[in-house]
Amino acid sequence: METLFLSAQDPQTAEKAAEILKHGGLVALPTETVYGLGANGLDGDAVLKIFEAKGRPQDNPLILHVAQPEDIREICDPIPETAWRLAERFWPGPLTMVLPCRPSVPRRTTAGLDTVAVRCPRTPITREIIRLSGVPIAAPSANRSGKPSTTTAEHVRHDMEGRIDAIVDGGPCDVGVESTIVDLTGPVARLLRPGGVTPEQLRDVVGELIVDKAVTSQIDKDAVVRAPGMKYKHYAPQGEVKIIAGPREKAAAYIRRQFQDGDAVLCFEEELPLYEGCNPTAYGKESDTATLAHGLFAALRDLDRADIRVIFARCPEGGGVAYAVQNRLRKAAGFQIVTEDQL
Ligand code: TXA
Ligand code: MG
Repeated sequence: METLFLSAQDPQTAEKAAEILKHGGLVALPTETVYGLGANGLDGDAVLKIFEAKGRPQDNPLILHVAQPEDIREICDPIPETAWRLAERFWPGPLTMVLPCRPSVPRRTTAGLDTVAVRCPRTPITREIIRLSGVPIAAPSANRSGKPSTTTAEHVRHDMEGRIDAIVDGGPCDVGVESTIVDLTGPVARLLRPGGVTPEQLRDVVGELIVDKAVTSQIDKDAVVRAPGMKYKHYAPQGEVKIIAGPREKAAAYIRRQFQDGDAVLCFEEELPLYEGCNPTAYGKESDTATLAHGLFAALRDLDRADIRVIFARCPEGGGVAYAVQNRLRKAAGFQIVTEDQL
């Protein structure tokens, strides 16, 4: 299949993309988090194409994207009051809510669950495309399954050219890591995936928030989990990622001792001088964690090469968006961490 490239600047792009979606096609769309691979979320056949293009296991459900918060009424029922308060505060934006699902949503979209994940993204062209298509748009991250999410149209082209109908180029994504997912179907709100909306911001609205164990540890692949996507290998380049924790100088000394030809270092900008001769890539500034979120997936993609054996990675500490960066890097590393006392 030939993949059409559409610029977000072109006034005809929204119409063209919406037409493709209405006819059951696949269109990669820019969002403020990462690029999404969109299809009509109410059309089971269109949704099946997403799984095929990504090579995604079919037990991993998709997020439905809406043009405006009220549109979740068509797909969710009942909607708790907390959901409206979260929507008011964070939508449009990088927050996904898991809610009870209406029977009209195809099982392929929800992977047979009786809940559905919903999000209203911030990027104007994408909201306009959803509005014109007239249906909620199912969209996972627009990467081949298991690879880092795509944060530029070029990444999408690399993974998806020839496999999808069109790519809308809206430039690099702002946040750089996927949305925060919060499950509101239980008695207490539960964080399933950290992202651009921080746990602190969520607690401010919902009060109590449980952090699901899929966020902090490796989940067995046969386990029954609340966020099915969490049990799969994720974000992983071909080489082995090892997180080296601890203070800057001590970690650098350890990495320099372990480093062999064919290895690489993924570090903070501030640390580049410590890794001369060690093939370092900086993904952002430790002093500005938003830059780390913004640069992480692009850096992991650059390092996704057969000739790189081990990637020694430095990971930010603390809350806020650093918490989301930590989560993605730990998953990329299969939760392999060398702690300070092991240095
Ligand atoms: O920022 C984002 O959320 C991006 C952009 C494109 O919106 N999308 C994204 O989709 O990251 P995806 O499919 O790569 O990740 C969605 C995650 C998966 O881990 C999936 O298992 C989980 O959401 N999920 C979807 N529906 C769910 C449900 N009903 N209950 C629990 N988890 C669900
Ligand atoms: Mg994904």
